[in-house]
Amino acid sequence: MSQVALVTGAGGGIGAAVCTRLASLGYQMVVADVNGEAAQEVASSTGGIAVTADVSRLEDNRAMVAQALEAFGHLDLLVLNAGVRSEQSPDMPLDVALYRQINGINVDGVVFGIDAALPAMSDGGSIVVTASLAGLGPEQANPVYAMGKSAVLAYVRAMAGALAQRGISINALCPGFTDTAILGISKKLMRKQGFPLLTPDDVADAFQTVLTKAGTGEVWTLVPGRPAAPFTFPAVPTTLLPDGSAVELRPFLAPKER
Ligand SMILES: NC(=O)c1ccc[n+]([C@@H]2O[C@H](COP(=O)([O-])OP(=O)(O)OC[C@H]3O[C@@H](n4cnc5c(N)ncnc54)[C@H](O)[C@@H]3O)[C@@H](O)[C@H]2O)c1
Repeated sequence: MSQVALVTGAGGGIGAAVCTRLASLGYQMVVADVNGEAAQEVASSTGGIAVTADVSRLEDNRAMVAQALEAFGHLDLLVLNAGVRSEQSPDMPLDVALYRQINGINVDGVVFGIDAALPAMSDGGSIVVTASLAGLGPEQANPVYAMGKSAVLAYVRAMAGALAQRGISINALCPGFTDTAILGISKKLMRKQGFPLLTPDDVADAFQTVLTKAGTGEVWTLVPGRPAAPFTFPAVPTTLLPDGSAVELRPFLAPKER
């Protein structure tokens, strides 16, 4: 029985490259995008089905999973990749509607996608989230984008324990600047400055590495000139008790221990 993968934001750029890669590995593809025509094109070239879904809407996430089940009967891999750049620059007054729209896609799209897919995913399933290097470093030009990408990294790391109890792994990939439409006019400037860009295929290579090598709750980085690598977060300081002994912070109690 072929494995089934659902990729969001799959109508172009990194998502389309990941779909092509997964199809070449034998996956049956569910190609989801808010742009239905773009999704259809990728679905046609990968032999999959297209789903029009806006990931910022919980009901769309539920419907896309239902369509995957209707077509293939099961779901093994969920790639939460849909994302948008932030037009909210740090030097302009906060546009609340824009702020909510960006986070609706970049943050809710991950939280809602996981919530919608979990009931359909079985033991051995896997979730990969496309985050960004912007979520790891202070991306000063794009604080709202950086905040959203940091948020999903925290969510991936914090959800890993609970999902592991259901036999499902969850990891995140943080690519550097990649030659896709999301870069908008910055792409021209980067090219002019000779700034090296990743290709969507480079990211698909890294995605495949994460899929085959990562355990769970891991964050992997990809930058030009280096292979994909797991990122090590510094340890949280231990709590110092009055008697001088140190205790490690337990980030959460596993549901069994509550
Ligand atoms: N390109 C980069 O430099 C770069 C770097 C790091 C991380 N990323 C992340 O990679 C992911 C893919 O981006 P990309 O570079 O391929 O950009 P892209 O613009 O080429 O592709 C994004 C896709 O997401 C779709 N999309 C947008 N809003 C959506 C919504 N509400 N619901 C469903 N689909 C929606 C778009 O239609 C598009 O097909 C994003 O999460 C992005 O933040 C990109």
